[in-house]
Amino acid sequence: MVRLDAAGFRLLQVSDEALMREILRDTSRVYRKASLMRRLGAITGEGLLINDGELWKRHRRLANPALAAGSLPRYVPAMYAAVARTCAHWRGACADTPVDLVTELSHTTLVSLLDSIFGMRDDAQMLGGRVTRVSGVIHALLDELVRHGSALAAPPLSWPTPGNLRFRRRIAEANAILDDIIARRREVLTETEVAPDLLGQWLQQRRRDPGHFSAGEMRDELMTMLIAGHHSLAIALAWAVYHLALDADLQAAVQAEVDAVPDLPQTPEDLPQLPLARGVLLEALRLYPQPPILLREATADHSLGGYRIRAGDQLLLSIPALHHDPRHWPQPQRFDPRRFTDFSTDGMMQAHHLGFGGGPRSCIGRRFALLEGVLVLAGVLRAFRLRTVISDATPVPPRFAGMLVPSAPLLVRVQAR
Ligand code: HEM
Repeated sequence: MVRLDAAGFRLLQVSDEALMREILRDTSRVYRKASLMRRLGAITGEGLLINDGELWKRHRRLANPALAAGSLPRYVPAMYAAVARTCAHWRGACADTPVDLVTELSHTTLVSLLDSIFGMRDDAQMLGGRVTRVSGVIHALLDELVRHGSALAAPPLSWPTPGNLRFRRRIAEANAILDDIIARRREVLTETEVAPDLLGQWLQQRRRDPGHFSAGEMRDELMTMLIAGHHSLAIALAWAVYHLALDADLQAAVQAEVDAVPDLPQTPEDLPQLPLARGVLLEALRLYPQPPILLREATADHSLGGYRIRAGDQLLLSIPALHHDPRHWPQPQRFDPRRFTDFSTDGMMQAHHLGFGGGPRSCIGRRFALLEGVLVLAGVLRAFRLRTVISDATPVPPRFAGMLVPSAPLLVRVQAR
C-alpha cells in the first residue's frame, strides 16, 4: 500500500491481493466508484461503469439478461460478420504491407459491437454513415478521457476552457447520434421479432414493463457498453495476435486446435473446444490488463487490513502487481497460454486473475468478450499465417494511457493459408 497526497486527494495504491479482494468483494459496500472517474461520468451519465448503490443494482439487474450466456448466440452472426470483414480486408491488402493490429482490431470489435448493440448490419449503414460517425466520436471521446484522465487537477467540466468546450461538444454530438439511433430502432421494431440486438431487447422489455430503462437511461447504458466493451477487447486482441505472430510454434499449436473443430464457436459452451485459443486471450489480459488500474473511493472511515482508510480516500488497485506475482504466475513475464488449460472463468478472482475485475462490480460483458475474443482469434488463425515485421526478441513494451496500449504500433504481416 503506497500513499500519495496530490491535488487535494489522498491516493492509495493497493498492490496486495487480500486487500484488493476486501475492497472489491468482502467490504465492497464501503467503496464506490472513485471521484477520479467523474470525467467518464460526463460521457456515460448514470451508466453502469460509474453509478452506485440502489441505482447500480437496478441498472445491473435490467442490463443483465441481454448479456447473460443464453442471449449471446444472438450476437454471434454480428461477430462472424465482423471477423469475415476483417479477413476480407486483410486478404485484399498487399502482402508486403504490414497490418497495424490495434487499428484493424479496433475496427473489428467496434463493427461487431455496433451490430450487436444496435443491429446495424446493413453495409451501407455501417460503412457509409453511422459507423464512421459513431466510431469517430467515440474515439475522440476516449482520446479526451486519456488526455484528461491522468490530470488530477483538470479544471471542472463546468469551466468554459477550450478543452472543456470541445469535450462537451463531442458528448452532445455522441448523444444526438445515439438518440437518433434509438428513435429509428423503436420505429421499425416489431413486438414479435427475436431482436438480435441489445437495444431491440431493451426496447421490447420497456414496452412490456414501464419500470425498465427509460430512453435516457438506455442512452447512458448504450454509451457505457460502447466505451467499456470496444477498446478493452480490441487492445487485448491486438496483444494476443501479436504474441502469436512472435511465437511460430505457439501459433501452429493454436492453428492445429482451430483446424480440428468443424466451426468457429457459436455459444459460450463451445469455448472448451478451443482451450488454447481461450488461453491466449486470458494470457493477453493477464500481461496487459484492460484497464490496469481499478479505481474506488472510500465512502466511510474503514480499517482495511490494518490500514486506516478515511472517507474520500481514492484507491488505485494495481492489477499488474497481482498478475506478475510469481507465487501465482511462475515466470510471470513469459507469454504462456497453457497456464489456462484447466482454468475456470467463473472464479477468476479466486484464481488471481482480475482481468475482468472482481466482486459484484465485475465485468458484465465478460462472457460476451470471451466468446467474441476467441471467435476473432480462431477466425483470423484459420485464414492466415502471421509473422512480425522484424524478428524482435523483445516484444513491444506496453505504456499506460488509461488502458495498457502498445508503446509502438503492433505490426504484423499476414499470409493467406
Ligand atoms: C476484453 C474485454 C473486456 C475487459 C478486459 C473488460 C474489463 C472490465 C473490468 C476490469 C471491469 C471492472 C471495472 C471496475 O471494477 O471498476 C469491467 C466492468 C464493466 N464492463 Fe467490461 N471488459 C471487457 C469487455 C466488456 C464488454 C464487451 C462489455 C459490454 C458489452 C463490457 C461492459 C462492462 C460494464 C458495463 C462494466 C461495469 C459493470 C458494473 O459496474 O456493474 N465489458 N470490465
